[in-house]
Amino acid sequence: MTMSTIHKIFIGDAETILRKLPDDFFQLIVTSPPYWNVRDYGHKDQIGLNDTLEEYLHRLNKVWHEVARTLLPDGKIALDIGNIYYSEPDEKRRTTANLSLLTWQQLNNIKSLRFMGTIYWQKTTSRDGAVLFGSYPYPTNFMISNAVEPIHIFRKVGKREVPKEIKERSKVSVEEFRKFRDAIWNDINGVEDAHCAAYPLELPARLIKMFSYIEDWILDPFLGSGTTMRAARELGRNSVGIELNPDYLARIEEKVGIKRRNSVGIELNPDYLARIEEKVGIKQGDMFTDAKFEVIKL
Ligand SMILES: C[S@@+](CC[C@H](N)C(=O)[O-])C[C@H]1O[C@@H](n2cnc3c(N)ncnc32)[C@H](O)[C@@H]1O
Repeated sequence: MTMSTIHKIFIGDAETILRKLPDDFFQLIVTSPPYWNVRDYGHKDQIGLNDTLEEYLHRLNKVWHEVARTLLPDGKIALDIGNIYYSEPDEKRRTTANLSLLTWQQLNNIKSLRFMGTIYWQKTTSRDGAVLFGSYPYPTNFMISNAVEPIHIFRKVGKREVPKEIKERSKVSVEEFRKFRDAIWNDINGVEDAHCAAYPLELPARLIKMFSYIEDWILDPFLGSGTTMRAARELGRNSVGIELNPDYLARIEEKVGIKRRNSVGIELNPDYLARIEEKVGIKQGDMFTDAKFEVIKL
């Protein structure tokens, strides 16, 4: 049975909402940020689509600083970001934007964070086999495949005491331990989803098993379709997700398994929640079966 856990969804801009969240709170941040220049997530304030590379990196950097602040001592960040192809204005040919390296540098520049290593998720997608652009069938303009997504792992300096009983309940098997610490993950397929850039459930699930204990709080500042939240829920962790586009809420609710009956709904001011509950005559115990959900629009 799914354990009793709490999940909060904030609809709004990641940096703005992160600023309202407490210091030293989350054990783990798992996320795949919006891509630069390639995907349209359907919101005018989205990071990436209409930004220059410099603007894009600047906006992400502000999010990383907030993320680091909200991490517990010894908390971890797992950042999944692949490189993308684009064209410079002075030529039609493709160039690769090394988003993975650029964001690694941003995290590495934050004083409270220490680098632990990079996992390379080699996506097994049918699409990659069909991508034969460049100078095919001739040399010399081979564009290196970008169907590998590096996942950078950082930890926050400091120590955290965890009760033995919690550690025992969070154990991973020897097979999992061996498999998970491998630098190359080539056994996880990409997914088709109503959301244009969702990652497969197994990805955040592994990272959550590796880098958090049961009952910990997990954060995804770019929640998308809610994959991280679903993994957190299934693994007995609490979670917070931030997503800019309210149109993704229906998909999040479906994926995470939020029943309308169990959720508080969307309200502009979270302070009104208590008032709504009182007025509607909802007792918390009536509302939530195995998990408590709140959707808050700031
Ligand atoms: C790569 S997707 C995340 C997909 C997610 N991992 C999943 O499995 O569904 C990035 C998400 O960031 C959201 N986003 C873009 N700009 C944002 C911002 N300023 N604040 C919060 N979310 C934003 C997009 O709407 C998109 O859903």
